[in-house]
This record gives sequence, structure tokens and C-alpha cells, in this order.
Amino acid sequence: MKHFLDIHTTDTDDLRAIIDSAQAMKTARNGRPKGTKDDDQPLAGQMVALIFEKPSTRTRISFDVGVRQMGGETMVLSGADMQLGHGETIADTARVLSRYVDLIMIRTFEEATLLEMAEHADVPVINGLTNRTHPCQIMADVMTFEEHRGPIADKKVVWSGDGNNVFASFAHAAGQFGFDLTFTGPETLDPEKAWFDYCAGKGRPLTVERDPVKAVTGADLVVTDTWVSMHDPQSARERRHNQLRPYQVNEALMKHAKDDALFMHCLPAHRDDEATSAVMDGSHSVIFDEAENRLHAQKAIMRYCLGV
Ligand code: CP
Ligand code: NVA
Repeated sequence: MKHFLDIHTTDTDDLRAIIDSAQAMKTARNGRPKGTKDDDQPLAGQMVALIFEKPSTRTRISFDVGVRQMGGETMVLSGADMQLGHGETIADTARVLSRYVDLIMIRTFEEATLLEMAEHADVPVINGLTNRTHPCQIMADVMTFEEHRGPIADKKVVWSGDGNNVFASFAHAAGQFGFDLTFTGPETLDPEKAWFDYCAGKGRPLTVERDPVKAVTGADLVVTDTWVSMHDPQSARERRHNQLRPYQVNEALMKHAKDDALFMHCLPAHRDDEATSAVMDGSHSVIFDEAENRLHAQKAIMRYCLGV
């Protein structure tokens, strides 16, 4: 049984196979209507539970549609409406769900919840975002980069903003797919030390550059994300905005990247905060391809988990 908990805890070869499979499935659909099923129905007869303890648009809908395209069925569950939200243990929830469903995807707060679910479930568990990482997103992002620009290996990727959960999965991807990752942001919002250690151990040390212009110079890909994540206290909003404003991705900053640089944002975005609308809707931006590729990448992740 294979869980998909994080990019750094999945075999490098399996990650590459997932990206290739995602691209092949996308190509095979060849633009057919979204509600139609794939020719292959590898999830026929399978039931997938999608559990959300936080809001979601992309993750929820792309998993739901992906399962249906592959012939399976879903149940979308709110953590608050389950006994999980009223004191039942994660371990007991995992054991019970395993009697009903074939696969569990969970979006939660604490990473410990995800890990406990995986430890006690008899079926595969997929990480749909925790406070600490967001691996499905970055699988879609690697797929999107390669679709537009070829292999991501040895490319210069620059993250401007908060060293958050999405950044963490980018750091894992840097180690696994072999690209150079630069973080630019205020020291108070630096990524976790663990991710510096991980990347150094993989021979792809993270670069920190406080000056966003210097950081972005020569970039193949510029990425940002919201300045206030779902798990951050709203009381931190004003302070974070003040600290992060110099790291806004705008047209002036993008001019320092390579001419053919791509711009990514996992969405949802706060337009004209972390990135301007001119960049989000401009020629470098591939944000809606990223969103689409969540669907294809996650279909490949589910096939990997279920071995189908
Ligand atoms: N990018 C992403 O995970 O979006 P949602 O929060 O809408 O699922
Ligand atoms: N960093 C953001 C990502 C949302 C998809 C959050 O955790 O809220």
C-alpha cells in the first residue's frame, strides 16, 4: 500500500512516473468534454473519501472530477460534520473509514493528523494540504513547468514571499527533481530549517536572497502565494502585509527574470497583494494551466496509490 504524504518521502522514480502518467492521461483526453469518462476506467468500483477541515475550491473539485473521469465514486466530507470534529480519535476514524472506502484524501491543519490517519488506515492516504506542506500542488506545478519549458532539472526557481507550506513542497521538489530554488522574503517568514537541511542533503542547497530584484535575476520560474495562509491568525494580517509588500511580484520585478520566465501561483490569490493582476493575467503567467493540472496530476497520484 502506498500513501502520498509528501514529495520528499516519495521515491524519486515514482514522482517522475507520476508526472509522466499525468501528462499521458491529459494527452489521451485530448480536450474531450470535462464530464466525460476516460477510455480507461482504473477506479471502476472504487470509493474515495475526500475530507476537508479547511476550505477548498481546486483540491475539492479536481479530486472529485478526477475520480469520476476514472470511473470511481467520491464522498466529500467536512471534518467539522464528522465525529472527527467532535472528539473521535483520528486512529479510530482511519480504521472505520478503511472498512468503507478504498482511498482517503485529507486536507487538515496539523501534519500529525495526516500522519496518524496514514498510520492507522488500511487504505492509501493522500495529503491534500496541511499547515506544513502541499505536495499535490507542486506535482501539478512541476508538470506545468515541463509542459511549457521542458525538463525542470537545473532551472532557477525563485519563491518570493512567505516561506510557507507551498514553499516547503517546492523545496522538496527541488531536492527530488534537481532544480535550484531561491527564497526571497523577510527573515521573520523564512522557511523551516528542516527544509534547508533537506535540500542541502540532496545536493541542492536553498539560496536565500533578501533583495527580491537580485533573487529574481535570471529566473526561469517565479512563484508566490498568499501572504496569509488558512492556518495563520488573522491578527497577523497587517504585520505580514507590511513585511511582504516589498516582495510583491509585479511587472517591474518580472523584468529581472529571464524573458521567457514563467509565473506561477497555486491560487487562491489576493490580486494586487502578493502579485499584481498585470502579472497574473500577463504573458509569463501559467496560473490556470497549474490549476487544470491539479486534475491530471492527482489522477496519476491516485493510480500510483491504488496500483491501478
Ligand atoms: N491551490 C489550492 O489548493 O486551492 P484550493 O485551496 O482551492 O483547494
Ligand atoms: N498557503 C496557502 C495555500 C492555499 C492553497 C494556505 O495554506 O492557505
